[in-house]
Amino acid sequence: MSKAPQRQKGDPETTGHSWDGIEEFNNPLPRWWLWTFYVCIIWAIAYSIAYPAWPGIKGATTGLLGWSTRGDVQVEIDAVNEANAAINAELVSAELTEIPANPELNTYAVSAGGAVFKTWCAQCHGSGAAGAKGYPNLLDDDWLWGGSIEDIHTTISHGVRNEDDADARYSAMPAFGRDELLVEDEIDQVTNFVMSLSGTPQDAAMVDAGAVVFADNCAACHMEAGTGDRAQGAPNLTDAIWLYGGDFNTIKETVTNARFGVMPAWGLRLSEDQIRAAALYVHQLGGGE
Ligand code: HEC
Ligand code: HEC
Repeated sequence: MSKAPQRQKGDPETTGHSWDGIEEFNNPLPRWWLWTFYVCIIWAIAYSIAYPAWPGIKGATTGLLGWSTRGDVQVEIDAVNEANAAINAELVSAELTEIPANPELNTYAVSAGGAVFKTWCAQCHGSGAAGAKGYPNLLDDDWLWGGSIEDIHTTISHGVRNEDDADARYSAMPAFGRDELLVEDEIDQVTNFVMSLSGTPQDAAMVDAGAVVFADNCAACHMEAGTGDRAQGAPNLTDAIWLYGGDFNTIKETVTNARFGVMPAWGLRLSEDQIRAAALYVHQLGGGE
C-alpha cells in the first residue's frame, strides 16, 4: 500500500477505502434528490392503495377511492340520461304516429334514433342502412313487413323469426328441393317464371310451365301476381329488388333450400324510447309510409 495522497482543505470525508493511493470520497446524495426520491416512494404506495393498481388473477385491485374509467363514463351517461329524461318520457307517452308532426320531439327522436342505429343495427343493415344480402335495405319503399311507423316499431320491438320473443314476426318458406316438394325440373321452371316477373332475361320456354308451379306452390304467400304479402313477410318478386339475389342460381338456391332471415327482438334489450327513436329514424330514411 502506497502512501495516501495529501488531503486538501475542504475535501469531503473519505470512506476509508484506498487502493493504490486512490481514495473513495464519501459524497452524500444531494438533499433535494434524496427527498424527491422518498416522496416518490410514498406517493407510489399511497397511489396504489387509493387507485386500481395491482393486477391479480381475476382483475386488478380496485383501490380505496373506488375510481374507474368505467365509473367516469357512467357518470357522464347518467348526466345525459337525466338531461334527456323529460323528452324521453314525452317520446314514450306520445302517440307514435303523431310524433312527426311535433318538430321538437321528432328532431330529437331522429337524432337519438340515428345513434341507436349506429350502435345496434348497422352491423347487419349497414351504417347507411342500405342493407346487404339477407339484410334488407331500409332506405327504399320495398317493405317485407310494412313501412308505417307502427309496422317498423313492431318489427324492431319483436324482431323476425327469433326464438326469444313469442310475438316475433314469423313465417317460413318451405325448402321445396331439400324437402322434395318439387323435382329439379319444376324448380328450374318456377325459377325462370320468377325471373320473368321482374323482366329479368330468362329461358322463355320454361315460363309457362313455371307459372303453373308458381300458382300451385308459391302464390299462397307471394300472391298470384308475385307481388308478395306483408302479413307473411313474403317479398315482392316483381320489383327487381332482391333480398338474396335475382339471378338464376340464387333464386334456385332460395327455392331449393329456402331462407330464414332472423332479426333479434330489440324490446328485450333496448328501452321503449330507444326503440321508438329507432323506428322514427328508419321511417324518415326514405321509404316510410
Ligand atoms: C343480427 C342482424 C340484425 C340486426 C342487428 C338488426 N337487424 Fe333488422 N333485420 C335483420 C334481418 C335478417 C331482417 C329481415 C328478416 C326477414 O327476412 O324478414 C331485418 C328486418 C328489419 C326490418 C324490416 C324491414 C322490412 O322490409 O320490413 C326493419 C325495420 C329492421 N330490420 C330494423 C332494424 C333496426 C332498427 C335495428 C337496430 C335496432 C335492426 N334492424 C337490427 C337483421 C338484423
Ligand atoms: C309459406 C310462404 C311461402 C311460400 C309457399 C313460398 N315462399 Fe318464397 N318466400 C317466403 C318468405 C317468408 C321469404 C323471405 C324469406 C326470408 O327473408 O328469410 C321468401 C323469399 C323468396 C325469395 C327471395 C326473394 C329475394 O328478394 O331474394 C324467392 C325468390 C322466393 N321466395 C320464391 C318462391 C317460390 C318460387 C315459391 C314457390 C315454389 C315460394 N317462394 C314459396 C314465403 C314463401
